[in-house]
Amino acid sequence: MKADVTLADLPLRPELVGEEPYGAPQLDVPVRLNVNENPFPPSPHVRQEMADAVVATACEVNRYPDREAWALRQALAAYLGHGVTPEMVWAANGSNEVMVHVLSAFGGPGRSVLSFTPTYSMYPEYARNTHTTYLTAPRRPDHTLDAALVMDAIAEHDPTVVVITTPNNPTGTPTPLDVIGDVLAGTDAIVVVDEAYQEFSHDPDATSLTLLPEHGNLVVSRTMSKAFAFAGGRLGYLAANPAIVDALRIVRLPYHLSAQTQALALVALANAGEMLGQVDVLRRVRDEALFRLPAMGVEVVPSDANFCLFGRFADRHDVWQRLLDRGVLVRETGPAGYLRVSAGTPEEMERFYAALAEVLAEGAPREKGES
Ligand SMILES: Cc1ncc(COP(=O)(O)O)c(C=O)c1O
Repeated sequence: MKADVTLADLPLRPELVGEEPYGAPQLDVPVRLNVNENPFPPSPHVRQEMADAVVATACEVNRYPDREAWALRQALAAYLGHGVTPEMVWAANGSNEVMVHVLSAFGGPGRSVLSFTPTYSMYPEYARNTHTTYLTAPRRPDHTLDAALVMDAIAEHDPTVVVITTPNNPTGTPTPLDVIGDVLAGTDAIVVVDEAYQEFSHDPDATSLTLLPEHGNLVVSRTMSKAFAFAGGRLGYLAANPAIVDALRIVRLPYHLSAQTQALALVALANAGEMLGQVDVLRRVRDEALFRLPAMGVEVVPSDANFCLFGRFADRHDVWQRLLDRGVLVRETGPAGYLRVSAGTPEEMERFYAALAEVLAEGAPREKGES
C-alpha cells in the first residue's frame, strides 16, 4: 500500500465509515461547565500522597501490575458498603471501559442492549464497538421511567442487557428504587443501573446496591470521575454478583489497569472524605441553578445530578456560541432546544449567570412547550 494513505484507503469496518471520534469539545476557556466534572482539585496533602504513590510504583515499573487489582477492589468494596465484597467489584479505566466489558461479555452479534432516551450518548458507541444492537425506548415526557414502560420495552425487544441511568444524563432525572426492583423481578436480562451521579442525588443511600443480595442479574455501575473528583485518574467500577465479575474477567485485556492508576485510586479512596468534601457545595450549586435559571426566564429540567438542562432556545447553538464567546463552555446536548450546564464552583457559576444574562438581554428566542 502507498505510504500516504488516508482513512478512505483503509479496510475500516463498514459500520465505522463516516463516524467521528466521540467527545465534547475540549476548549481552553476560563469557565468549563460541559463534562460534569467536579471543579475542585485535590488538596496539597492529597496531591503529595498521590505523587509519593506514583514514585513507589516506579520502583517496580519493570513488573506487570496486579492483574486482579485486588487491593483496589477491596478499597472500592469498603467504600460502597451495603455488604459489597471485593469479589463483587470490578474496575477498569473509567466506567466507559467497564461498560465495554459488560457488553463484550453479555452483548455481541445477534444480541441487543436497551436504554431509555434521552440518555448518555456513549451507550450507542459501546454497543457499536462490541457488535451489539443498540435499541432505545423513549422516557415519559417528563423524562421519568416507570416499571410498565421498561417492562413493555423489554417484552418488545427481548434484550440481553438493559441500561437504566439514575440520575439520568443529560436530564438529571432519578428512577425510584421500587421501579428498579420491579424491573429486576420481571426479567432475566442483565440490568445495568448506571449510578455515575449517585453521590449527588438527594438520597445517595437510596441505591440499587441494596438490591444486589436478591438479584443475580443486577449490575450497579459507578465512577470516580464525578463526585470523587478523579476524572483524570480514569477509574470506573461496578458491583454485581461474583459470577458476573467472573464473566468480565474473561473479556478484559490482561493488566488493563496500570500500576499508577491503581495506586492513585487507592490514595483517592483512602482520602474519600476529602475527595468527596465538596459534594454538598455542588448539590447546593445545582439546587440554586434550579431556581435561579427559571427566575431569569428560562426553563430547567429538575435534576438530581451535578448538572441541569436549561432552555428551550429556538437556536441553542447560537446561545452556546455566545456563552463561549464570553468564556463559558456549556454542553450542547439533550432534547431539542436545551443546553446542559455542570455545577461549577460558586465563582464559576456567577460568571455563567452573568454571561447568560447578557445573552438573554441581547435576545435569545425561546421555544415553548413541555420539557
Ligand atoms: C451516565 C454516565 N455514565 C458513565 C459515564 C462515564 O464516566 P467515566 O468513563 O469517566 O467513568 C458518564 C460520563 O459522563 C456518564 O454521564
